[in-house]
Amino acid sequence: MELEAYVRGLPKAELHLHIEGTLEPELMFTLAERNGVDLPYRSADELRTAYEFTDLQSFLDIYYQGAGVLITEDDFADLMGAYLERAHADGVRHAEIFFDPQTHTERSIGFETFMAGFARAQQSAAERLGITSALIMCFLRHLPATEAAATLDAAGPYLDRIEAVGLDSSEAGFPPGLFAGVYAAARDRGLRAVAHAGEEGPPEYIRSALDDLGAERIDHGVRIVDDPDLLARVVRDQVPLTVCPLSNIKLRVFDTMADHNLTALLDAGAAVTINSDDPAYFGGYIGDNYLAAARDLELSRADLAQVARNSIVATFLPDDRKAALLTELDAFAR
Ligand code: HPA
Ligand code: ZN
Repeated sequence: MELEAYVRGLPKAELHLHIEGTLEPELMFTLAERNGVDLPYRSADELRTAYEFTDLQSFLDIYYQGAGVLITEDDFADLMGAYLERAHADGVRHAEIFFDPQTHTERSIGFETFMAGFARAQQSAAERLGITSALIMCFLRHLPATEAAATLDAAGPYLDRIEAVGLDSSEAGFPPGLFAGVYAAARDRGLRAVAHAGEEGPPEYIRSALDDLGAERIDHGVRIVDDPDLLARVVRDQVPLTVCPLSNIKLRVFDTMADHNLTALLDAGAAVTINSDDPAYFGGYIGDNYLAAARDLELSRADLAQVARNSIVATFLPDDRKAALLTELDAFAR
């Protein structure tokens, strides 16, 4: 079997995916027209050429601007539906999907609108394609923790449709400890916890995400290699790392794919997973991320199957569903 068919065929889970980061330029233009929103670009192609990033913040500025075209329940349903179709085509059986409520509530678009749109597309994809999904509500860390707490309150009526809380946006200067209170409140309400840490921030932020937030997975986490003791702990406890190779190159976390430390993390025994982060902005969906890592880091098929296995084990799915997916993976990868 060709490498590409193998990669796309591997049964896998996606655990690091921002739904607002799946907004393709073409859909952005369609929604802008539908909603009468002016975009400062003349075409989808011209917009694509603006996707030259120097770091996380240079991306976030464009990403928040793009999300401004998302207004109606249908917009959120179309966005979610398009992602789930693509994920299904890449062998994703289950996705745990970030959304940024504050990006929408600050524009007076409420939970009732985006949650209804998401739910409609999630149900439809589950019925038509068999792909299941869960939602992770992220707090924007560049905004005060009091606003994160207000967001958790606003989510109250929808908590049965939210699996976990997460933490994203500008990392440096916004340590996880700022959000210890709102994470404790979220965990008290039955939510699981993950957090972005160690993308641009230091290993100390990863330790704080684990100790102060109770994070069960670390999103990105690649800078953990700067702290061998912490890496040893994450290997011992098999704390999953949701690594996003194409994102890391686009945002200059590593100069080239050949410089990426994914292989070192895998060789150390870390529970590495491969994910797409913001695929509409970074040049590829999850299958492209597996492929880029396979080609440039010379991952073997056994390595790729191990990464897919890690992704299934790292989900928040019940044990019986995990076991069924692992059986399916073993049958494919044998
Ligand atoms: N890091 C932090 N915040 C984000 C990202 C990311 O990679 N993508 C979307 N929001
Ligand atoms: Zn991310």
